[in-house]
Amino acid sequence: MSVGAQTLWDIPTRLFHWLIVCCLPLSWWSAETGNYEVHQWSGYTVIVLVVSRVVWGFVGSRHSRFDDFIVGPAAVRAYMQGQGAASAGHNPLGGWSVLLLLSLLLIQAVSGLFNSDEILFSGPLYYWADADVRAVMGTLHDVVFNGLLALVAVHIVAVLYHQFKLKEKLLQAMVRGRAKGRVGEAAPAPWWLALALVVVIALALWWGLQQAPRPAVLGWG
Ligand code: HEM
Ligand code: HEM
Repeated sequence: MSVGAQTLWDIPTRLFHWLIVCCLPLSWWSAETGNYEVHQWSGYTVIVLVVSRVVWGFVGSRHSRFDDFIVGPAAVRAYMQGQGAASAGHNPLGGWSVLLLLSLLLIQAVSGLFNSDEILFSGPLYYWADADVRAVMGTLHDVVFNGLLALVAVHIVAVLYHQFKLKEKLLQAMVRGRAKGRVGEAAPAPWWLALALVVVIALALWWGLQQAPRPAVLGWG
């Protein structure tokens, strides 16, 4: 087996993960301290990372693809009854939690675009939305964050349980790409494809947000 064929988590998947891990506390801290310059950039970064990860879930390496780890309810039940996971990657339950984490992250970051602190900072789509949309997005930004915190806590506990109780080398694989008992079954997709994706998605987001209406400027008539 070649070295490449043993990679479980390719470089883009690992980078997406650890960068998201950096952005979430940064987004939290910057909101708490009212530093909305940092908050918005951290949020845009989350949007680009999560959208790129979702596209990577269709065109990326074998174990990063959704069809490698999203399985039906019967397979999840079987896994929970102690029958082994079908894939070398995320287990059947973990696969669904990945999808949920990515969805909540995206809802959190996108709802922020419509948000305002009503004093100093408004998201770039605030003036595009009517009062109802702003209200829904404001509520989502508050409520989903709590859901996200709860799910991240469960995620970390689950990782630590597998790592230390079940003695699976999850952390090593998420850092180095592979570990004993955690190896991939196919060669990774080229990393430059992920880089191209990130660039295109970032440009598309930047262009899209440029189209949004600006606040009306108060003039002297
Ligand atoms: C901000 C908090 C976090 C979020 C939002 C998050 C999210 C995620 C997501 C979406 C995945 C799936 C990776 C993919 O397929 O792209 C994942 C996997 C993973 N995360 Fe996290 N994560 C967080 C914090 C952490 C922390 C603090 C650790 C270390 C203790 C960790 C360890 C792992 C590991 C080891 C995996 C791979 C699990 C497996 O092998 O199935 N995560 N995480
Ligand atoms: C994953 C990314 C994000 C996270 C985790 C996050 C988290 C938070 C949190 C925890 C708050 C404080 C909520 C409160 O106490 O009312 C907040 C407020 C806020 N966020 Fe975000 N946010 C994210 C993305 C964004 C983005 C992309 C924007 C806009 C560019 C944005 C704009 C705002 C605004 C304007 C507020 C103030 C709302 C208020 O005062 O009611 N956020 N965010």
